[in-house]
Amino acid sequence: MKGIILAGGLGSRLAPLTKITNKHLLPVYDEPMIYYPIRTLVEAGINDILIVTGGNSAGDFLRLLGNGKEFGLKAINYTYQEGEGGIAEALGLAEHFADNQKIIVMLGDNIIEGSIKQAVSDFEKQPKGSKIFLKEVSDPHRFGVPVIDGKKITAIEEKPKKPKSNYAVIGIYMYDSQVFDIIKTLKPSDRGELEITDVNNAYIKSNMMTYEIIDGWWTDAGTFESLFHATKLVHAKKTSKK
Ligand code: G1P
Repeated sequence: MKGIILAGGLGSRLAPLTKITNKHLLPVYDEPMIYYPIRTLVEAGINDILIVTGGNSAGDFLRLLGNGKEFGLKAINYTYQEGEGGIAEALGLAEHFADNQKIIVMLGDNIIEGSIKQAVSDFEKQPKGSKIFLKEVSDPHRFGVPVIDGKKITAIEEKPKKPKSNYAVIGIYMYDSQVFDIIKTLKPSDRGELEITDVNNAYIKSNMMTYEIIDGWWTDAGTFESLFHATKLVHAKKTSKK
């Protein structure tokens, strides 16, 4: 399975920190944000990775990560997203790289405590469709929120004012090669972007979505509060091991 890390966008919720650099290059405790999703994928056995970047400082990713030696990789692939077309548009740029294989997509500002190795291996055995991860949160309105009926997800609502569950759909998604056909059918949302939630709803509609509740903590790091929170979580994890 191939891995794709989405690290574009203007990071406007973190201005002025993002005025001169890309959000995913900002520090989370003692390392740049992008290191964490790379490690998560590598630990899960994914060693063919594409980074989709864009906006400011795209060239700095190459200087920072090079060929990925620090992560035990032989090479890292890069591509560039022009403009602010959203997560699903950025993913669409990975079609050639994916080459009809299954993919795992991780948002570059998502950080998890634990491992997704088992889920990756489960999805490898899943004949087709998609698999997502949920986490119970206190502020679901900030995220994609699943509507759950019994054990089944019947829909995902993007940043609902009145969330129908206490779960967030976290920014790690596994898809079969159909995903690129789905992306081509999407229309921009009210915020003018192609939404990953619309991709997931297409899989739900055709009954091809499985999910898992992730162990350990999860956070995004795209706002001042969540970046600060992420730094504290990472600090606690790294210092407790010493
Ligand atoms: C995105 C997705 C949302 C998901 C979140 C996870 O939100 O649209 O469904 O729950 O990532 O971090 P964004 O960060 O683009 O607002």
